[in-house]
Amino acid sequence: MENNAVSLRGKKVALCVPDRIKHLENAIKWMNDPEVTQFVTTYLPVTRDFEEAWFDNLGKEREKNVVFAIETKDGKHIGFTGLHNINWHDRTAVVGAIIGDKEYWGKGHGTDSMMILLSYAFLTLDLRKVRASILAFNQRSLKHAIKCGYRKEGVSEKQYYKNGKYVDEILMAVFKNKWILFQNREFREKGELTFPQDICPKCAGKMKKLARPVSRSEYRNCWRCEDCGFETELTEMQK
Ligand SMILES: CC(C)(COP(=O)(O)OP(=O)(O)OC[C@H]1O[C@@H](n2cnc3c(N)ncnc32)[C@H](O)[C@@H]1OP(=O)(O)O)[C@@H](O)C(=O)NCCC(=O)NCCS
Repeated sequence: MENNAVSLRGKKVALCVPDRIKHLENAIKWMNDPEVTQFVTTYLPVTRDFEEAWFDNLGKEREKNVVFAIETKDGKHIGFTGLHNINWHDRTAVVGAIIGDKEYWGKGHGTDSMMILLSYAFLTLDLRKVRASILAFNQRSLKHAIKCGYRKEGVSEKQYYKNGKYVDEILMAVFKNKWILFQNREFREKGELTFPQDICPKCAGKMKKLARPVSRSEYRNCWRCEDCGFETELTEMQK
């Protein structure tokens, strides 16, 4: 179905104004799918009443929460994204993103929608800083956040109870001034995203170059994460 209320267009997706007729059923389905909700902080069943009220509130709360439906170029609804708790004094917000259609995981749609959302946050709303909270085991989300310019600010240890155990929350953030440089370099000059060399692909910690001895006279150059100890060959990181 064609959605006329497309707000922002990217390479793979468009961010559209949420529409009860087109997007409500998927929201109920995805927010009750354990394969999806394992990655977010909600844990209670989402009823139709609850979801309808959420849709109704979007218009009333738009100064505080700006939510978009994510659609592919051909109009297929695959998820939601948004800026929450917008603080106009400090010029901050917290990002939320869910690709509910699992067929579309890991194919670049999340990265594309996040870059459009950040462009809107920084260049339209003039926010200064956008934060993200990511469960430590959610490697796909961490990686896509890093690819969009987020950096790790800290860890809230054992913050959430998920899949039978307490898990760390990784606190990520991206600043407007740094993001503008980042997206200029990554998108305009190279025409595509590349993985930043000094960010740990496992936990988003800081990678440090070091020479590790392999024998008395031989050294192997590698990168080591100062936070989690993950190591990789120097050549791998230089791709
Ligand atoms: C997190 C999410 C928004 C990311 O969107 P996406 O379209 O799947 O992500 P992208 O394809 O743009 O980027 C993911 C990156 O992680 C990589 N990746 C995919 N699966 C991975 C995994 N299991 N472990 C590590 N990396 C993984 C991909 O290869 C890709 O990197 P690359 O482009 O360098 O190859 C989406 O997967 C999602 O909504 N998942 C379910 C709910 C969720 O986790 N929400 C976020 C809560 S913080």
